[in-house]
Amino acid sequence: MTSSVATNPLSLFELSGQSVVITGASGAMGHAIAVALAAMGARLLLVSGSQVALEEVANEARATGGTVSTLVIRPETLSDAEAIIAYGVELYGRVDSVLVASGFNKPAAIEAMSLDDWEEIMDANVRGPWLLAKAYGDHAADRGGAGRFILVSSVRGRQGSPAGYTAYCTSKGAVDSLTKTLATEWGPRGINVNAIAPSVFRSTLTDWIFSDTAEGKASRERNYSRIPMKRLGEPEDFVGIAIYLLSAASNFVTGQIIYVDGGYTAT
Ligand SMILES: NC(=O)c1ccc[n+]([C@@H]2O[C@H](COP(=O)([O-])OP(=O)(O)OC[C@H]3O[C@@H](n4cnc5c(N)ncnc54)[C@H](OP(=O)(O)O)[C@@H]3O)[C@@H](O)[C@H]2O)c1
Repeated sequence: MTSSVATNPLSLFELSGQSVVITGASGAMGHAIAVALAAMGARLLLVSGSQVALEEVANEARATGGTVSTLVIRPETLSDAEAIIAYGVELYGRVDSVLVASGFNKPAAIEAMSLDDWEEIMDANVRGPWLLAKAYGDHAADRGGAGRFILVSSVRGRQGSPAGYTAYCTSKGAVDSLTKTLATEWGPRGINVNAIAPSVFRSTLTDWIFSDTAEGKASRERNYSRIPMKRLGEPEDFVGIAIYLLSAASNFVTGQIIYVDGGYTAT
């Protein structure tokens, strides 16, 4: 054990000065982790396609005293992904970590789902993360390797759902596979690649499940019957695991899909 870990174990979670790119920063998960990382002294580049929502998150993160910049773009093409990484480098000299918290779902039974909707879901959840990984890999190679690339999967990457999720479940299964494959490809370069896999968390995607409508109540009951902790997730439940995976506390952890689900996948 190194002496700094022995005498100050919490230094393992130190993120001060780390430069982190967060896509989907306007969303529920991205918002929660952006504010927390800013408060920990990380230097952030927050990315999303919605300027107003992104600036709201950035201002909240800056209010903690954090160093925060924004870029209004979605990682839809390789040049978009390269522009995101390049801007992080321009701002902070290097990009230590990327957290891909962007994603999309539009449920419909397979017979009713259009090919355009299938492609939009796959593009947001698989193509975008793959393009970001490609751009980040080039950057990490330039600066001699090392770094962290964190994806956001879902319990739906592992389990099916009858709720019109043929595209979403398939996309998150691909995220799991991308996580494991990148981890094997980048392990020798010291780049940790892991995925956080939430169950139902409060967000614009899931607002209806938290609502007082009959549909919302029925969905909550169905969920509670499978969740040992008898509640749904809040964005704050995402923060601890993200800090762990971004920090030296997880130095020897790679290729893992980590479920943050109140025990849902344990039943
Ligand atoms: N909430 C849940 O219950 C839950 C459960 C399991 C997994 N997840 C996953 O967690 C991640 C974050 O979701 P969230 O809960 O924070 O949802 P959210 O609040 O809806 O945020 C989604 C984020 O993704 C971006 N986005 C939306 N459509 C996009 C597209 N077509 N291409 C690229 N980016 C797009 C949005 O930014 P702009 O629209 O501003 O670009 C937004 O910042 C996603 O990968 C989601 O699948 C969520």
